[in-house]
Amino acid sequence: MAARLTVSRELPTDLERDRLPQHVAVIMDGNGRWAQKRGLPRVMGHRRGVDVLKDLVYCCRDWGVGAVTAYAFSTENWKRPMMEVNFLMALIERVLRRELDEMMAEQIRIRFVGDLSGLPQSLQDEAARAMERTSHNGAVDFAIATNYGGRQEIVHACRAIAERVQRGELRPDQVDEGVFQQHLYTCDRVDPDLLIRTSGEMRVSNFLLWQMAYAELYVTETFWPDFNREEFHRALLAYQQRDRRYGKISAPPTPAAPSGSP
Ligand code: FPP
Repeated sequence: MAARLTVSRELPTDLERDRLPQHVAVIMDGNGRWAQKRGLPRVMGHRRGVDVLKDLVYCCRDWGVGAVTAYAFSTENWKRPMMEVNFLMALIERVLRRELDEMMAEQIRIRFVGDLSGLPQSLQDEAARAMERTSHNGAVDFAIATNYGGRQEIVHACRAIAERVQRGELRPDQVDEGVFQQHLYTCDRVDPDLLIRTSGEMRVSNFLLWQMAYAELYVTETFWPDFNREEFHRALLAYQQRDRRYGKISAPPTPAAPSGSP
C-alpha cells in the first residue's frame, strides 16, 4: 500500500475542533476517469482509491472525526462489466484481509452496510470476521457501504416493520421516525453531517437517502484517487462556514453593546 499521502497529523489550526462533523460520508467518484487519463485500466483507479480511503480514515482519527462511511459498491454497480465487478469484490476482500491487523492496532471499527447476502460467500465471511474482530474499537467507526442502495435499505426497513406489525409486536400508530430509523442498517450510528463527493458530480446516487436529510454537501472536481488531506481540510473549512439551520432561522447576531455602557 502507498505511503500516507501527506503528513499533517495535527488538526489544522484554522479548523474548530468542537465544530467538526461527527460523521463524514464519501462518494469516491472518478476512479475510472483517473486511470483512463493515465492510460491505465479503470480498475487501477479503484486500487489507488483504497489507499486514499485508508488515509482518510486515519486522517479522521488524527483530527477527531468519529465516523466515516464510504460508498464502495452500490446496488446499481452490478450493471458494470463483469470483470470490473469481480475486481471490486476481490479488492474489498483482499484489503480487509490485508489491513485487519493494522486496523486493530489503530483502533478502527469496521462495519458493512448494505445487503451482504448478495455478496460472494468469501467476502461475506471476511466482512463478518472484520466486523466481529473490530467491534470494540473506538477511534473511528468506519462503515463500508457494499451492495448498498438507499431505496433498497428503506424497502428493507419497511418490510421488517410490516412483519413486526403482522406479528402484533407493533401497532401502525407506533411507527414513527425513531422506529423507522431503528430498522435501518445504520440504526446505531449518527447520521452524516457532511457528504463529500469527488469528480464534480452533483448527485446523491441512492446513498444514505434517509440519513442524508440534513447533511451538508461538498463537491470537489478532484478525482477520488487524487483526494488527500489538503482536500479534506478544504471540505471541513467549507463545512464550518455553513449555517446549519435544520429548518429554523439563523440565530440573530449578538447586538453590539450600546456606546457608553461598561
Ligand atoms: C466510483 O468511481 C468508484 C467505485 C464504484 C468503487 C469505489 C471502491 C473502492 C475505492 C474500493 C473500496 C474498498 C474498500 C476495502 C473499502 P467510478 O469507477 O464510477 O469512476 P468514473 O466515474 O470515473 O468512471
